[in-house]
Amino acid sequence: MMKSRICVIGSSNVDLTFRTQRFPKGGETLTGRSLHQGMGGKGANQAVAAARLGAGVTFVACVGNDSFGIDAIRNYKADGINTDYIRQVNEYPTGTAAIVVDDQAENCIIVVPGANASLSSSDVRNAAKAIQESDAVVCQLETPLDATLEAFRIGRSAGKLTVLTPAPVIALPDELLGLCDICIPNQGEIEVLVGRSVNSQQDALEAAKLLMSLGVKTVAITMGLAGAFIVDSAGALQIPALKVDAVDTTGAGDAFAAALAVSLCEGQSLGEAAHRASVVAALTVTRIGTHAAFPQLAEVDAFMVDQNDG
Ligand code: RIB
Repeated sequence: MMKSRICVIGSSNVDLTFRTQRFPKGGETLTGRSLHQGMGGKGANQAVAAARLGAGVTFVACVGNDSFGIDAIRNYKADGINTDYIRQVNEYPTGTAAIVVDDQAENCIIVVPGANASLSSSDVRNAAKAIQESDAVVCQLETPLDATLEAFRIGRSAGKLTVLTPAPVIALPDELLGLCDICIPNQGEIEVLVGRSVNSQQDALEAAKLLMSLGVKTVAITMGLAGAFIVDSAGALQIPALKVDAVDTTGAGDAFAAALAVSLCEGQSLGEAAHRASVVAALTVTRIGTHAAFPQLAEVDAFMVDQNDG
């Protein structure tokens, strides 16, 4: 198997996860079950999840010149990630996220971008060599759009696979969609991207085709318990969700995107890669947090062997 090289451009946060029975209503004070502090950020999550699967990962990001930023860089190095293009900024603190997870394992998240807002197209140009030496460039939308666009321009002109998780979702410029090989929205995100609601598989197919008409080559919609629905020019593919005891779904979409990119770059077919990505996402939701929850390659392989045996 070919080792894949992935360049992730995106956010790095500290996550504070509050577990509660249910989400609070406006004006209500709830007593929570527990508090967990860990590293997160959609970019960092994808970088760490990819590294755990054995990919060679470069992470391009901005963190604060504070203890969270120092810890983050130390942790990325411990996962074997190249941190040469992580810039520590003085003007803002490291990004933070307040995450509430209820007893159904659902989450809602507030992100304060902090240093993530400083990531610029010039940071990305500085990392051009790392993008050109990777097989895939992987972005999300928690850092400025200019930086994402620049990453995809460099990636596309070097013939690299460009992978976008459109979260937090905003309407996207045509240029970005035209540079996107794989777009991985969840159900709510694709609704915003195409401006129509998605309540059935037929809706999902039509929404994916709309996105493809704007230049995206492959659309992979993550649909929680309904699994993933993947559409490209060859047709559509339904990947069922695996049944696991979920405690926290935070980061599952990031894990799915990372695993899909890594597996495609290793030479797997779209169907094989999507199946492996759904295994990585399923294992992730069985543990609290994101980096603390992402599985190592051996665990993923063992799970897949068990599935085949069972
Ligand atoms: O996708 C999950 C992530 O969203 C969390 O780690 C949090 O930091 C926010 O960026």
